Amino acid sequence: MARITASVYTSHVPAIGAAIDLGKTAEPYWQPLFKGYEYSKQWMKDNKPDVVFLVFNDHATAFSLEMIPTFAIGTAADYTPADEGWGPRPVPRVQGHPELASHIAQSVIQQDFDLTIVNKMDVDHGLTVPLSLMCGQPEAWPCPVIPFAVNVVQYPVPSGQRCLNLGKAIRKAIESYDEDLNVHIWGTGGMSHQLQGPRAGLINKEFDNGFLDRLIADPEGQAAVPHIDYVREAGSEGIELVMWLIARGAMGDLAGGPAPQVKHRFYHVPASNTAVGHLILENS
Ligand code: DHB
Ligand code: FE
Repeated sequence: MARITASVYTSHVPAIGAAIDLGKTAEPYWQPLFKGYEYSKQWMKDNKPDVVFLVFNDHATAFSLEMIPTFAIGTAADYTPADEGWGPRPVPRVQGHPELASHIAQSVIQQDFDLTIVNKMDVDHGLTVPLSLMCGQPEAWPCPVIPFAVNVVQYPVPSGQRCLNLGKAIRKAIESYDEDLNVHIWGTGGMSHQLQGPRAGLINKEFDNGFLDRLIADPEGQAAVPHIDYVREAGSEGIELVMWLIARGAMGDLAGGPAPQVKHRFYHVPASNTAVGHLILENS
């Protein structure tokens, strides 16, 4: 049986990817940020998963206003890092896991969540920056990745409650897969940031830290928070945080198991225009 042993949460700021790719991680601006991920890179090596189920959002790269899937699961054998305007990032191609992804699609759709099935997709900073933060700069990523794209860019966006419930369905799907696989689920994006309009540059440390507290200890309570509160408190792009509830919903305590262990918690302001948050939770 496949099992989810841990969940990882992290922001995905594109400038972090550029800092890594251009060798600037030791510069004074970036050093404190990357220090917060040293534990995480070692943890990834010590707890190497067989597969990462990576919840992220596409930023009008693979999708556009022409096509807006709310939830899209990648069932392809591999994915190319996208060209977001400065050429593709010099990072490895992402290997998929078509068998497990297809099984999850079948199970989650039968649990009444409508997923779009994606057999070809370039992956943008939403997916590659979390991989770089957690894995550094390897020749190849340490394991296959199932990309799971959520629309948090064009309204209407899914509610926190739906995201938490979807996470529970993903857990059931993974646990009904026959092969013994150690799966990590990642929730990415956020924390507070607004990239546009009069409030551009908004950061809200109090909201972000309250979110981290409740994500750990009261995910059901956090799921009840409406999307307008994210936008008001954490800025227009702060809504990316609802994706973290998908990963949290897949943890064992929400299916009657013990509370997850907090292995690592980190918060840093700023990286580019964004407050960076990061958590690692392990199922006991
Ligand atoms: C920034 C943050 C994001 O999450 C993003 O998708 C693009 C830009 C930023 O802080 O610059
Ligand atoms: Fe983003």
